[in-house]
Amino acid sequence: MSDLTHLQHIRQEMPATTSRIYMNAGTFGPLPACVVSAMQERMQQEWQNGRLGASGFEAMFAIYDNARKGVAHLLNADADEIALTDNTGEGLNIISYGIDWHEGDEAITTNHEHISLLAPLYQLRDRYGIVIRVADIGEKGDLPILKPIADLVTPRTSLISLSHVSWMMGALDMHALNVDYYAIPIQKWLCGPDGTGALYARHDSLGNIKNTYVGPFSIKHEMGKDWGWELLDKAQRFETGGRQTAALAGQVAVLNWLDQVVGHQWMYERIAALSTYAFHALQEIPGLHMLTPRAGASGLVSFRLEGKDDGEVVKYLNEKHNIYIRNIPSINALRVSTGFYNTEEEIDTLVRALREM
Ligand SMILES: Cc1ncc(COP(=O)(O)O)c(C=O)c1O
Repeated sequence: MSDLTHLQHIRQEMPATTSRIYMNAGTFGPLPACVVSAMQERMQQEWQNGRLGASGFEAMFAIYDNARKGVAHLLNADADEIALTDNTGEGLNIISYGIDWHEGDEAITTNHEHISLLAPLYQLRDRYGIVIRVADIGEKGDLPILKPIADLVTPRTSLISLSHVSWMMGALDMHALNVDYYAIPIQKWLCGPDGTGALYARHDSLGNIKNTYVGPFSIKHEMGKDWGWELLDKAQRFETGGRQTAALAGQVAVLNWLDQVVGHQWMYERIAALSTYAFHALQEIPGLHMLTPRAGASGLVSFRLEGKDDGEVVKYLNEKHNIYIRNIPSINALRVSTGFYNTEEEIDTLVRALREM
């Protein structure tokens, strides 16, 4: 199959990518048809048969297991190292809160982090008196990161928490990356339903995080002898109880579709190629100040337009050109997400629209 046929097939499966110019996977990705079918099918079953009996639980747990396995395959991790979460922020909270903090203990982060990562640290600072140390990785976040972080490490450092956006040669490999914990969204670039995400916790590092929440899904026995209970020896210990099973059915479907139909390698390469194309094409616009330091390192390209209000630009693109990007008001910036389903022509249209403003 040619690249173009493959792309057309993918776009047909995702109608939101052809009814508009969809350039905001960084917030929510467009849904492929298989997600909607899987969710509908699950809801239909629940509606018709109820959620009853041993077979009901079996079917539900099979979806949960497949959801963890799908993430493990994507991240090159073991399924036992995956906990299901509702979003990235939940994973970040589980880890941040799971450390046995004492007043004066230190957490290191960088000056380029999302509030989902910072919020738990701020809360821990206010509640337990921890110290947050911020590594300066440059205005554009392009300084080599190791030294600024290593410089802040002290005997009181208990956590280093930062985001990772590079595509690492096209695939994520938890074991090669050698991190302790890694939180991901599934509703963004992976095009899954709302309320789906995952947390990776390395086998060896599981014991370093204390559970903040516990429930029947976290423990070996719901009610042991004498009400004794023990946490599971796997990342699933961070799950407390039932989630949206239909959403998890959608997650299973989309991860399978990305693996079997889209192709992980094709997807990563396409995102990087489109991002590189956008990086260069946008730079030709007079008055555009590029903020993204390197072309193609992720699917995000951020920039400022001299003399333009970021919110107004988003509105103009949306209303006049049916193009959807987002602004980052705190830095008066605009952010374009190039998904694997976008085309070079769409980027050309965006560039033309910005030139015409
Ligand atoms: C770097 C980063 N971390 C966390 C989040 C929050 O993601 P979620 O809504 O899945 O919690 C975002 C959302 O855009 C993000 O960009």
